[in-house]
Amino acid sequence: MRVMILRDAEAVAAAGAQRLAEVVRRNPAPVLGLATGGTVGGVYQELIRLHREQGLSLAHARSFNLDEYLGLSADDPQSYHRFMFEQLFAHVDLPRGNWQVPDGMAMDPRAEGRRYEAAIEAAGGIDIQLLGIGRDGHIGFNEPGSSLASRTRVKALAEQTRRDNARFFGALERVPRLAITMGVGTILSARECLLLATGESKAVAIAAMVEGPVTALVPASALQLHPATTVILDPAAASGLKLAEYYRAAEEAEAELRMLQKEA
Ligand code: F6R
Repeated sequence: MRVMILRDAEAVAAAGAQRLAEVVRRNPAPVLGLATGGTVGGVYQELIRLHREQGLSLAHARSFNLDEYLGLSADDPQSYHRFMFEQLFAHVDLPRGNWQVPDGMAMDPRAEGRRYEAAIEAAGGIDIQLLGIGRDGHIGFNEPGSSLASRTRVKALAEQTRRDNARFFGALERVPRLAITMGVGTILSARECLLLATGESKAVAIAAMVEGPVTALVPASALQLHPATTVILDPAAASGLKLAEYYRAAEEAEAELRMLQKEA
């Protein structure tokens, strides 16, 4: 894992957007894995800015979102469909047929999981997967205890996740109990992963993910086994890391290497 500790949440969002933009610019048919939530909102704002001010085009891209609540229709104000439309898709040139979010209203949610997996595969797999992390170490809605080999399927939300997300619903009782989510195995199949975290509330999960054992108790820890994962943090989210100084020094050394390569 590459760990980058940046000065604040704004810098984290900008770095995340920059990496996504690089993949979009370099790849003739990029497939993006997208996430929702408070952490990635800034990434989408920055992508919209790059689209408007620097001509970044998503016309040739496709995207797959990580997850959706079961029982919420695409136009429900709390659905992840709606989140994505309002925060990104309505403001960029990604064609309507090119983005997918799991169908929270599918008559057969298990079949929807299989359909979603097949659609990702048919698209050639995900080039870069954007991720946030839950306070309990979840990625997507893969709650503690999830199989590290899981594929897209129905998952029950943990109580802590429902409480954390109650802020969007106004009341805990309104937060759905089930979601359809890419599995940990689906996420590990992406060619590159980019996990962003900001704020002190994520510090324990980040320390467990980066420096703890690989365990189903912290589903994000499975990313230790992924060959190309970058974790971008603000100082508060990084505050539980034992090796923070090492990660900072490693980034400086990397920058030096890039300079040498440029000169050569
Ligand atoms: C959302 C998702 C979740 C969030 C995580 C962090 O699509 O898959 O794993 O990334 O719950 O959410 P925030 O950023 O709101 O703290």
